[in-house]
Amino acid sequence: MEATSLSAGAKPSAPPLAVRKLSPEIGAEIMGVDLSQPIGGALAGQMQDIWHDNLVILLRGQKLSMEDQVRFAECFGPPAKLHNKGHMAGHEAVMLISNIRENGKLIGALPDGEMNFHTDQCHQERPAKASMLYAIEIPKEGGNTLFSNAYAAYETLPDDIKRRIDGKRALNAYDYANAAMKRGTKLAEGVPHYMHPVVRTHPATGRKALYVNRLMTVRIDDMPEAESEVLLNFLFDHQEQRRFIYEHVWRVGDILMWDNRCTLHARTDFSAVERRLMRRVTILGEKPV
Ligand code: SIN
Repeated sequence: MEATSLSAGAKPSAPPLAVRKLSPEIGAEIMGVDLSQPIGGALAGQMQDIWHDNLVILLRGQKLSMEDQVRFAECFGPPAKLHNKGHMAGHEAVMLISNIRENGKLIGALPDGEMNFHTDQCHQERPAKASMLYAIEIPKEGGNTLFSNAYAAYETLPDDIKRRIDGKRALNAYDYANAAMKRGTKLAEGVPHYMHPVVRTHPATGRKALYVNRLMTVRIDDMPEAESEVLLNFLFDHQEQRRFIYEHVWRVGDILMWDNRCTLHARTDFSAVERRLMRRVTILGEKPV
């Protein structure tokens, strides 16, 4: 798509950023910014506006140290400290997503292959507001990340479904043993979990987003199990329709940040003999309402 200059929301001291839409429903590439240098408040404010409008932002061709990435993340809020200290990669908020093994030991988390749609840390009281991945090594094919627009998913639901989920809450859990593909329909022993609204309101935009996902949502509270299962499967199929999705094919040097409050994401399969290495920082969010 054509590059355009967006001036909406721009602060007077910042020239408008060049922006290119990544798909009709979701995602925008921001051009002409070098994140290895600190960016000023006016530029960060513009980027935040573009992020709120497009839910996912991408900057290509970056050469970023860990400190550069953390500094960029801080423009959007405090980086979330990792719960699992074993995943820390040189900084309390930095984690590697990688299938690389050194001396037989994985150097990162979420290593292999395909992942079902989910939102980060929805099993915690304060899930991540944003997640950012920086691509360091990528496979020749696959390992793409798909992003779905959860506002559009909510807004296009039939009215009777909206009425059925209005005010409902759902249990979300993260089963580390079956992390990538398998959704539990029962809460397994010792699995971290939290109940959140099925429809959440974004604190910055005021828009409603569908907040369930195939990987981590176990059941809708206060609803017979069989009914919850049928309804959830309808919602999962609805939100995963291609018309709501942008599929990102990674290049080394990409940095991409998504808003977990109004998107969900998944990963396509890739060869186990190829290396994939991403550096991830998440930003602490608020309790969903
Ligand atoms: C994630 O779900 O945070 C990882 C996505 C990816 O590896 O593309």
